[in-house]
Amino acid sequence: MDVGDEAGNRLEAIPGTHRFTEGIAARTLGWSQDYLGPTLRMRRGRTARLTAQNHLDSAITAHWHGLHVPGRQDGGPQSLIAPGQKLEQALDIDQPAGTFWYHSHPHGRTGDQVYRGLAGMLLIEDDDTASGALPSDYGVDDIPLIVQDKAFTRRGALEYDDGGMAAMQGFRGDRIVVNGALDPAVRVPQGLVRFRLLNASNSRVYVFSFDDDRRFHQIASDAGLLPAPVPRKQLQLAPAERAEILVDFSDGAGGRLVSQDVPVQMMGGMMGGGMMGGMMGGGSGPDTRNGVFRVLDIEVDRSRPAAVTTLPRELRGAHLPTYGEPVRRRRFQLNMMMGMGMMRGMFGGRPKLGINGQSYDMGRIDQQLRLGETEIWEITADMMSHPFHVHGTSFQVLSRNGRPVEFGETGMKDVVWVENSTEILVRFDQPASVEAPFMYHCHILEHEDSGMMGQFTVS
Ligand code: C2O
Ligand code: CU
Ligand code: CU
Repeated sequence: MDVGDEAGNRLEAIPGTHRFTEGIAARTLGWSQDYLGPTLRMRRGRTARLTAQNHLDSAITAHWHGLHVPGRQDGGPQSLIAPGQKLEQALDIDQPAGTFWYHSHPHGRTGDQVYRGLAGMLLIEDDDTASGALPSDYGVDDIPLIVQDKAFTRRGALEYDDGGMAAMQGFRGDRIVVNGALDPAVRVPQGLVRFRLLNASNSRVYVFSFDDDRRFHQIASDAGLLPAPVPRKQLQLAPAERAEILVDFSDGAGGRLVSQDVPVQMMGGMMGGGMMGGMMGGGSGPDTRNGVFRVLDIEVDRSRPAAVTTLPRELRGAHLPTYGEPVRRRRFQLNMMMGMGMMRGMFGGRPKLGINGQSYDMGRIDQQLRLGETEIWEITADMMSHPFHVHGTSFQVLSRNGRPVEFGETGMKDVVWVENSTEILVRFDQPASVEAPFMYHCHILEHEDSGMMGQFTVS
């Protein structure tokens, strides 16, 4: 759906019944459709007008994940749309082209609502990406892949749990669903094909590759193009991370995109040891072959030549951060262990998790930032690894565990995988007030819902 200046674009949160595969009909949620929502296409330099309307019986929000818009338009937990209500938005789009997404974000319910379907992809285009150097025929050689994991009951209903151990380690399903389909397949033209990968799972980490181990090129990370394509055979995506890749099908041979079944990542010596290691290592056997999930089958249509056949050497329009010298350093520790909070999860309840020793409180502002000031944020974790997300801007990853990150991770991002310690360079050019602050949180949605989130103003 092209979202431009014209009025009348609607996103309606509705209940649905969705067939993930023949015979499996599940009750779901969607934006203007049974499950998930339309891909929203926005253009840099324009205003995107749309109305989000809530036809459900619980409150939702419409959060534009990765967009540089002010706090009052960000759709965080404070900006609830009550049942029967609607919210009109006019978003001034001024950031480099890239692959983003949107999802509901009410505190304590985000995991449940996103799992059931209140999410969708959002693309920003600009003059550089419109030049035709990259495959950009949507659905033909430019293919969105919203990757999620699901658990189904015997009768085909969606299974979900956000308390107890599911909340501690993050809820994980045993089946992979792409764009709402189990066992998906796609036909592509013969030549270069671009896939836009979004990990929209609640907590599962993917390590993607092709079953014939072919090489592909990463051209973009979360928030825009990289300066040059990065050759890869594997690509890791934590929840909410995105990547764009180019895959060469000019020899006419199809292939299969697969992912390793990545276990919950405990820190250092904790893996497999201690009470949590033992309790969190388990789980039901996922639907894999030798620990590998099938994600997408790709068939090449040899009667159809692709529009793009040569890999560009440089990517025009790559955004190189010019954030300047940092003026301060802030520290964030992602806490699984906070007093008795974790025990509640071990005994089946909703655990109390936090950041810097405090669980999320809608009435408390955790940090106050200044517009346009560059900072270094140092994020650490006390027990397991987490995908840390920041609203309202894009940042640059400086280091992980004291070492510089690889080239593919040096572009603009809004989610970063935190192991022992990670440093990012960040700056905010959009304001956020006490009434509508920005969030930082773990994007394992059960952790976020259990309080691993904080909020800040920018003025
Ligand atoms: Cu994907 Cu706080 O958001
Ligand atoms: Cu976000
Ligand atoms: Cu987490």
